[in-house]
Amino acid sequence: MIAAAGSGERLGAGGPKAYVQFGDRPMLAWSLIAADAAERVGQIVIAAPPGGEDHAEEVAEQAGVEARAVRGGEHRSQSVALALEHAEHGLVVVHDAARPLATAALFDEVVSRLDSDADIAAVIAAAPVTDTIKEASRGRRVLRTPERSSLWAVQTPQAFRTEALRDAVAAHADELGSVTDDAMLVERSGGQVLIHEASPENLKVTTPLDMEVAQLLLARRG
Ligand code: CTP
Ligand code: MG
Repeated sequence: MIAAAGSGERLGAGGPKAYVQFGDRPMLAWSLIAADAAERVGQIVIAAPPGGEDHAEEVAEQAGVEARAVRGGEHRSQSVALALEHAEHGLVVVHDAARPLATAALFDEVVSRLDSDADIAAVIAAAPVTDTIKEASRGRRVLRTPERSSLWAVQTPQAFRTEALRDAVAAHADELGSVTDDAMLVERSGGQVLIHEASPENLKVTTPLDMEVAQLLLARRG
């Protein structure tokens, strides 16, 4: 499932980020191509900006990828919950269209790792944090400094047992507007979530600076 229903406000490109040009194609196309090339990915469902379902399917067609687009929700996890209604397999992998540099191999790695251990509910891509992170009050008074070696910057793709994610979404329906990834929902339901170390190059395009960096990384790939 590709979460692509955001409005892209912080990028400020005047429209949904999924359709903003990245290299020679719309940003969404890159995630579709990577997911399609992954051996462990079958059916692809896109959560599209409401009213942009047809456009999302056109982007997929242009990229030579078979995918179905459904209407996204107001918040990211609501979009994921809506797309989840169309999941037909026992495992589901959720990915943000805002991470166009994710590789097919990374999709396969998170799914394979999850498939190999029945005790785990989810496997999520993440990179070790390199900055020192401080927790502060609203008044910016530092409250504490978590030990950096235990901190991970979480990415997508995130692979889930479909039932575990469905149950977590149903149990925390009132929190879908406030969570920042889907694994949080599974954690809150008591499910085991495992980190799969991924490259920090799989960055999220949020701001114009991210876009500049991502385009340099793309150019380097050749
Ligand atoms: N997303 C979504 N549905 C929403 C909001 C976000 O599917 N209602 C998706 C975005 O399309 C993106 C991913 O979730 O691929 C991560 O969200 P974010 O980076 O916040 O993207 P936007 O919400 O588009 O950006 P902004 O918050 O700056 O408006
Ligand atoms: Mg957003």
